[in-house]
Amino acid sequence: MIKLIEHTPYRNEILQKQTVRSYYDLISSKGEGSEWLGWMDVNNIAPPSLINEIENLIQTMSGIADYIVVAGIGGSYLGAKAVIEALSTSFPSKKPQIIYAGHNLSEDYHADLLAFLNNVDYSLIVISKSGTTTETSVSFRLLQKHCEKKYGIRSSQKRIICITDKTKGALKLLADKKGYKSFVIPDDVGGRYSVLSPVGLLPIGMAGFNIKELVQGAIEMSKILNQQKEYNIAVRYALFRNDMLNNGYMVEVMTAFEPKMFYLIEWWKQLFGESEGKNHKGIFPAGAIYTTDLHSMGQYMQEGQRIVFETVLSIAHANDTCIIPHDPDNYDALNYIAGKRISNINTQAKNGTILAHQDGGVPVIEIEMDCLNEKNLGALIYFFEFSCAISGYTLGINPFNQPGVEAYKKNMFALLKKEGYEKEYEILQKRINK
Ligand code: PA5
Repeated sequence: MIKLIEHTPYRNEILQKQTVRSYYDLISSKGEGSEWLGWMDVNNIAPPSLINEIENLIQTMSGIADYIVVAGIGGSYLGAKAVIEALSTSFPSKKPQIIYAGHNLSEDYHADLLAFLNNVDYSLIVISKSGTTTETSVSFRLLQKHCEKKYGIRSSQKRIICITDKTKGALKLLADKKGYKSFVIPDDVGGRYSVLSPVGLLPIGMAGFNIKELVQGAIEMSKILNQQKEYNIAVRYALFRNDMLNNGYMVEVMTAFEPKMFYLIEWWKQLFGESEGKNHKGIFPAGAIYTTDLHSMGQYMQEGQRIVFETVLSIAHANDTCIIPHDPDNYDALNYIAGKRISNINTQAKNGTILAHQDGGVPVIEIEMDCLNEKNLGALIYFFEFSCAISGYTLGINPFNQPGVEAYKKNMFALLKKEGYEKEYEILQKRINK
């Protein structure tokens, strides 16, 4: 399913003991933020009854929309987008297609989106645990009005689905008042750990992928990580990362030789960045797609400051076949690889890169999936969530809160003159006009 290969050998017995302690703190709910561990029990966040409910809803809604707009930000959309992009063909034509909103405040983006929606049939999924996130609320207000104008109030009730908290927040109130179908994000599951709850499962299912398999992969990984104590792959990955940090490698670049993994890396960046970047601690998570970025970031990786370690996210077997043809003229001098699959060339690019980067002083670890499918992605997601929690505990922070995200929100509210922020407005305005 998932293999971990430490290309750079390391040994740190003290840190190893500490990381194993973090593992036990996690599985016995003794670490900080233990009220946020709902994601650990996959059957709890994705019970068969929920999967059936989602599958029935998909049946009922089938054919009414060519596009599904998923509005959410951070943990409320990145996991779904990661899985959907990883499993979709590179040039999708199948309907319905998932498009995204609620993750930026660009006026042009919203104007473009509304203009696009004028001419297509769509439905809407809005996702916000707090129900008050400005980006998502602004987008949803525009989209909801657009939908009501286009389809009428009654018909838009059938096209709009909300995923939010059980009781709190403006979105819950709005969903109840408007009579929209809604799904609950469990209390004990934070945004970035929520992809295997309705937050991810509904959009992924709507996109046509097998959510049962996704969940099954996570269940199997959770069994492995709970049964193999002490030195399982999640502990080893957390240990490797913290050992690198202790040795001055402050940046982790996750690289993949498959462009479909771009958003999986974005999701991973959010998971680790938001979980670990606290108290002036944490590894800075970055990403690159190879071989594309070998022609840009590759130079830095090879010869830049030695503060970077690399985590290669690899896929052992391509799903499709594409063979380099033989050409009797051979003007491009490529006949030496004629007859080979492109994946074979990609694998040699990967092997060559790992060796070159190690020679250049970049420590490398590899996480290998045997192929891209729902089950392996479910396992990978669970593995990263589990390892992130262990790694955060080892670092000495609470991996489940995100106090820093509030700072910009407070300033934005004050600058927009939201009620209750009058004093802050004066202070910030003076700083801006200085
Ligand atoms: O991981 C997190 O908790 C965050 O990234 C949230 O998912 C993000 O801020 C969106 O929050 P909400 O779902 O409340 O709109």
